[in-house]
Amino acid sequence: MKALVVYYSNKGRSRYLAQKISESLACDLEEIRPRLNAFILFLMSINLGIKPLKNNIKEYENVILCGPIWMGRLIPPLRNFLLRYGNCIQKLAVINCCGISDTIMDQKFGNGFVYKEITEIVRDKCALYQAFPVDLVQPDDNFTSVFQKRLDSFIAQITSI
Ligand SMILES: Cc1cc2nc3c(=O)[nH]c(=O)nc-3n(C[C@H](O)[C@H](O)[C@H](O)COP(=O)(O)O)c2cc1C
Repeated sequence: MKALVVYYSNKGRSRYLAQKISESLACDLEEIRPRLNAFILFLMSINLGIKPLKNNIKEYENVILCGPIWMGRLIPPLRNFLLRYGNCIQKLAVINCCGISDTIMDQKFGNGFVYKEITEIVRDKCALYQAFPVDLVQPDDNFTSVFQKRLDSFIAQITSI
């Protein structure tokens, strides 16, 4: 399976998670680069798009998209990526870093609406969607067994989509 992990991260947790996924799959990794600071623009409700990817997305069988949730929504850098490259993606897996815990994930600021937004853009190409509580993703910490188990489970699912 030729896979590409694509991510956007504001504070570094999604970057760390994306790096761990690409290491586990021994695959390419690329950062989504917004044209200007995506977080400030998000707060101002301005969307200036993203810079072109360096990798050719058509060469990959699986694309794994990783990034945070803000205000229960699909954030502009991830949305822009899907709008721009969705047609070229063969199979998509999405993993969102979330501030809220698993137990309230179905509430307003959980991941339910984000998944809906993703499928509206890419339809049935999204073969796997998961939320990853940000508290588990601690770059300075030793790799906790909870984090490792969640990661292993995600990797196992990717390899079978
Ligand atoms: C403005 C803002 C809004 C957020 N809204 C949500 C939310 O609706 N749901 C949620 O689970 N986490 C929310 N979070 C927490 C982020 O998802 C979390 O900080 C993020 O996963 C960190 O990823 P990063 O380090 O890659 O930027 C929010 C964070 C910020 C700064």
